[in-house]
Amino acid sequence: MSTVPLPEPLDHARFNELVLAAQNAAKSAYNPYSRFAVGCALLSKSGQVYCGCNIENASYSVTICAERVAASQAVLRRDLDWDTIVVVSPQRVTPCGVCRQFLHEFAPQLRVWNGYLDNLELIGPTLLHELLPSAMTLSRS
Ligand code: THU
Repeated sequence: MSTVPLPEPLDHARFNELVLAAQNAAKSAYNPYSRFAVGCALLSKSGQVYCGCNIENASYSVTICAERVAASQAVLRRDLDWDTIVVVSPQRVTPCGVCRQFLHEFAPQLRVWNGYLDNLELIGPTLLHELLPSAMTLSRS
């Protein structure tokens, strides 16, 4: 049984802003190989929003997912305390395994919402550590 208190729900206006930001970010997807556009918006506890889209590569495995693009921007700003991520795509996808591990490094309690590009049928929040139980961690010195 978890003793971690549940985070306060986001207010409606903030949540809608995140969804719109994720939908907008998906328009920047560089996806000539899969034609699958993913957009996301990561809300930091500072109030900042970082967006990401998927960026594909001719060497397919070099592709980076939308979630890691957004998270990398937050790290670049040294803004490491994250609240919520909204991910939208043509088919509902939850963050892939690599992205789960990447996000978990900073925010095991991150609230994850998933939905379609063109409507607001979002599912969530799922906490990141529920998506990735037993994540790989190291103690930091
Ligand atoms: N993709 C993401 O950007 N995020 C996800 O959560 C799942 C997959 C991207 C990677 C690739 O460019 C395309 O979607 C198809 O897998």
